[in-house]
Amino acid sequence: MHFTITLLPGDGIGPEVVASGMAVLGKITERFGHSVDFHEALIGGAAIDATGNPLPDETLVACKQADAILLGAVGGPKWSDPNAPVRPEQGLLRLRKELGLYANLRPVTVHPDLADLSPVKSDRLKGVDMLVVRELTGGIYFGEKRRDGDTAFDGCSYNVAEVERVVRLAARLAGKRKRRLTQVDKANVLETSRLWRQVTTRVIAEEFPDIDLEHQLVDSMAMHLIAKPSAYDVIVTENLFGDILTDEAALLAGSLGLLPSASLGDSGPGVYEPIHGSAPDIAGKDKANPIGTILSVAMLLRWSLKLEAEAAAIEAAVGKVLSAGLRTADIAAGGPTLGTRAMTEAIVAALDEGMRA
Ligand code: IPM
Ligand code: MG
Repeated sequence: MHFTITLLPGDGIGPEVVASGMAVLGKITERFGHSVDFHEALIGGAAIDATGNPLPDETLVACKQADAILLGAVGGPKWSDPNAPVRPEQGLLRLRKELGLYANLRPVTVHPDLADLSPVKSDRLKGVDMLVVRELTGGIYFGEKRRDGDTAFDGCSYNVAEVERVVRLAARLAGKRKRRLTQVDKANVLETSRLWRQVTTRVIAEEFPDIDLEHQLVDSMAMHLIAKPSAYDVIVTENLFGDILTDEAALLAGSLGLLPSASLGDSGPGVYEPIHGSAPDIAGKDKANPIGTILSVAMLLRWSLKLEAEAAAIEAAVGKVLSAGLRTADIAAGGPTLGTRAMTEAIVAALDEGMRA
């Protein structure tokens, strides 16, 4: 199979981890007999520096023409002035909106050898295997924003269709897993949350009678995620709650650096990116954990290219290097560490061995 991938390295550690993703994709295509064209384009702070625009038109065109997009991270102190006219994050938000990527899939599992790294007691981490489906193109992220004298305003709205489509997707995914769906909101306070609850209840009752649906308020969900994380299968929630809960859930796995994500719409290319940020403090130092990006490449192969065996091979290779005790600094717990490049090479080598076995 031949495919085209647009690479958006972005800022901070973005370029380093995207290089790791490319190396792994290169190995996969070689071993499975595919070919790939990479196109690199600007986004975020790097794009602001070069063009004044965090999502230049040519980047958007390159993304729309690709089979899938691999993104590093955006943002950093250089562009964080609250009075700046544009911010790197606007590039990412506009990309999600322009491509119609309304569902962000964030799987969370715990490698048994890393359970001790989590601030959560390891006996609670047994059996953790959840998939958070975060709504990605609505809510307070995209509402009207303004300043009125000394008052600031961020509007939050959702309509029925926006909730239906992401709930349907989450329910379909739950149907292939343990058939449990937890919908998270703040329905005791917010009108948008009451709409979410109403629509979710109806969609599941009418279209997915075999799915076991539960509602949770976001404040108690934040607590349950730590107290009984293995109780959850698929979690579906609005944009802002999903952003917050997935950083929290990342700590179950041991490090934010381990977690991948896929942003999908009904058609067209998906965007695949680690859930971590640009980590400016370690940028350019060969210290970043590439695993979140490498597992995002596995999701890219699975969801955009339908190459399940290739995706599984990457996941197996990552599992193998972790089982062998190889660690980047964020997961080393004081022990010996590998840099970004050495960890990537180890995963590429594990892919090679896996293929020969
Ligand atoms: C994420 C990030 C982004 C978000 C930022 C960089 C705008 O935190 O992908 O989770 O809030 O969506
Ligand atoms: Mg986030």
